Amino acid sequence: MRLIKIYMTLYVLLLLLLAAVGAPVLFPSLEYTLTREEEAFLVERGTLRALGDDNFPPFSYVREGRSAGFERDLVLELERVLGVEIAHTQGPWTEVRAKLARGEGDFITGMRILPEREELYNFTLPYHETFHALVVPRESEVRGMQDLGGLRVAAQKSSATYEALREQGVWAVGVPNPEAGLQLLTQGQVDVWVEQYWVARFFVGFRGMDRWAVHPLEGTVGEYAMAVSLHSDEKLVSILNKGMLRLEASGALADLHARWFGPMMEVGPESPLVPILAGATGLATLGLGLLMLGVYLDRQVTRKTAELVQANKLLSYEQHKLGKMLLNAARALGVTIEIKDFNTGNHSQRVARVAYIIGKKMGLGEKELFALHIGALMHDIGKVGVPDDVLAKADVLSAEEYRQMRLHPEIGDNILRNVEGYDQVREIVLYHHERWDGDRNQRYPAYPGLLCGASIPLGARIVAVADTFDAITSDRPYRAASSLSDALAIIQSCSGTQFDPAVVEVAFLVEDELRQALASPDDTDYHLAMEKSMGL
Ligand SMILES: [Fe+2]
Repeated sequence: MRLIKIYMTLYVLLLLLLAAVGAPVLFPSLEYTLTREEEAFLVERGTLRALGDDNFPPFSYVREGRSAGFERDLVLELERVLGVEIAHTQGPWTEVRAKLARGEGDFITGMRILPEREELYNFTLPYHETFHALVVPRESEVRGMQDLGGLRVAAQKSSATYEALREQGVWAVGVPNPEAGLQLLTQGQVDVWVEQYWVARFFVGFRGMDRWAVHPLEGTVGEYAMAVSLHSDEKLVSILNKGMLRLEASGALADLHARWFGPMMEVGPESPLVPILAGATGLATLGLGLLMLGVYLDRQVTRKTAELVQANKLLSYEQHKLGKMLLNAARALGVTIEIKDFNTGNHSQRVARVAYIIGKKMGLGEKELFALHIGALMHDIGKVGVPDDVLAKADVLSAEEYRQMRLHPEIGDNILRNVEGYDQVREIVLYHHERWDGDRNQRYPAYPGLLCGASIPLGARIVAVADTFDAITSDRPYRAASSLSDALAIIQSCSGTQFDPAVVEVAFLVEDELRQALASPDDTDYHLAMEKSMGL
């Protein structure tokens, strides 16, 4: 939040600076107030006299006795924004220029700016981009000045284009006005008519002469402005410019232009500060926008992260609960077997503890330890399928009874076959009586005898050692329990034959922990530590 406050302060300061420095540039209408001298000039004059062509549509023309054209509307707008009366009269172009020269008018409403004309007039700021066009029959391939060789070309005699055509050796026929040029063209007295683009468009369109094509003429673009007599007071140009700039600032000039021509050119000198100020404002705004976006995204990320953490906590809690349920279910099943298998007491619990001690020492991970522990608790679950009299028999079993007893790994595997996610547990159940050497003819033979060596899953190899360790160290009706060292010695003697040597080796490394397990089978601290290490 502190960063945002600092940035917002800097942003506001920057905007104030831009407003102070750039407002007159960005919003020039603020500068367009008339000076006292200019106001006094207008009061003294009372009415300004504007002169315009009467046959230069759509710029300035008279139709059926009525004044019309872009320049006519411009004069009306200038009257409005300058608050001065303007008398607007129109006539033939040569007469218009002559009137201004005689001081019978204050300004001409529109004229193309040419170097030679700048010696005769003071021009206002340009308000139109003017260019010429060729008017030719639609089927003609004439497109530019380069195609005019040998052709008769009509152009206004008083125009710069006429002079340019003659200089380039074109057969130029001078005409007094656009109407005359068009007449020569339609009568076939000329091949091409050259005229200001919009004027040509107006006449061609106005007369509905779809047999003519109007092609813009390259290299003829120029500026178009109001012209004030050099003998006039200089204030008049300034007043007209301020009026034009006010019209531009308000959008009225653009509307006027759009009504008569379409998009317009900008009026007034372009300040290099405009793009700089606009760019600075844009960058600052962009920076602020990006910062706000960054803050928003940061908050979103924080919120989503918190939600995710919460969801993870919930999931972790649920997993924890599920794990505990699984563990307790496995313990219950282990106890079930022990109730059925009268001689074993808490055998599965003890085997699970020994297996866990060895597995942890061997570096098993959390999930592997969990599966090992569950598998160890359930390793004899198949004994539920062994007849009670076989399980309870204290004497030596017959061959058939042994056969039935040795089915318990496969029975257990079948019981768990449809339990999803119990693959590792099932492996322990199925293979916990396999031998490292795979021998099926020993006193303690391999059964079901499907695997040997390292192909026996590690969990099953560990449980095999843990199972034997507990059997040796537990009392049986027919013998007393052996000591830990005796048990380890017996297991050692079977290393590489019945048991995996690596597991036997680790059993010796955890001798102290095994002793502790024997001394305190119900060690609460041990159980808590074990469950914690399994992520429960
Ligand atoms: Fe077993």
